[in-house]
Amino acid sequence: MASVPDFASRDPLSPQFWDERFERDFTPWERGGVSAALRRFVAASRPLITLVPGCGSARELTLMCDAGWDATAIDFSPEAVARARALAGPWADRILQADFFAYAPEQPLDLVYEQAFLCALPRARRPDVARRWAELLGQGGLLAGYFYFDAAPKGPPFGIAREELDALLAPAFECIVDEAVEDSIPVFAGKERWMIWRRL
Ligand SMILES: C[S@@+](CC[C@H](N)C(=O)[O-])C[C@H]1O[C@@H](n2cnc3c(N)ncnc32)[C@H](O)[C@@H]1O
Repeated sequence: MASVPDFASRDPLSPQFWDERFERDFTPWERGGVSAALRRFVAASRPLITLVPGCGSARELTLMCDAGWDATAIDFSPEAVARARALAGPWADRILQADFFAYAPEQPLDLVYEQAFLCALPRARRPDVARRWAELLGQGGLLAGYFYFDAAPKGPPFGIAREELDALLAPAFECIVDEAVEDSIPVFAGKERWMIWRRL
């Protein structure tokens, strides 16, 4: 990976942290397209009412909306929202500037899509993320996407241990899919899994 530029903001809990990185085009977490597992999942699924929290460039939103899904992507960084809207074509109005912890969807969700959002936040915030996921989904609702496993203390990305993820989600979710990922980008290679968790 290229060396990290000298940024003014060091707090990933603030939108300014992410704004600065989008503004300076330092986005090593970006896949630059839609992953194979998500393509397979969308192709095999009925249309789902979906929320993509912390969407960044939100490339997956177009795939979902083109497939007839009622998908909304949110990000609290104005720079991320501007970038995502510029890429989304006819679906630009499905991208909202909003804080995940305060955002209330207009209708019940079938799916929350996870991709480099949990690992973007400091570890102390994880129980709040898991609580909000559980609140956003009714029984049978799905939490699907990529989960990053690593023990390095510094981040983002902040990896999680498998046992910790299980403990975080176990009260409200059961894991129904857990697969290796064949098309990871370097930042996540060998350390991420495609997972689907069902709300109990
Ligand atoms: C590592 S990036 C991942 C972006 C995208 N999901 C991807 O895979 O390319 C994390 C994103 O989460 C956003 N974010 C962080 N905290 C947030 C919050 N509380 N509410 C909404 N977005 C948030 C950041 O602005 C940033 O765009």
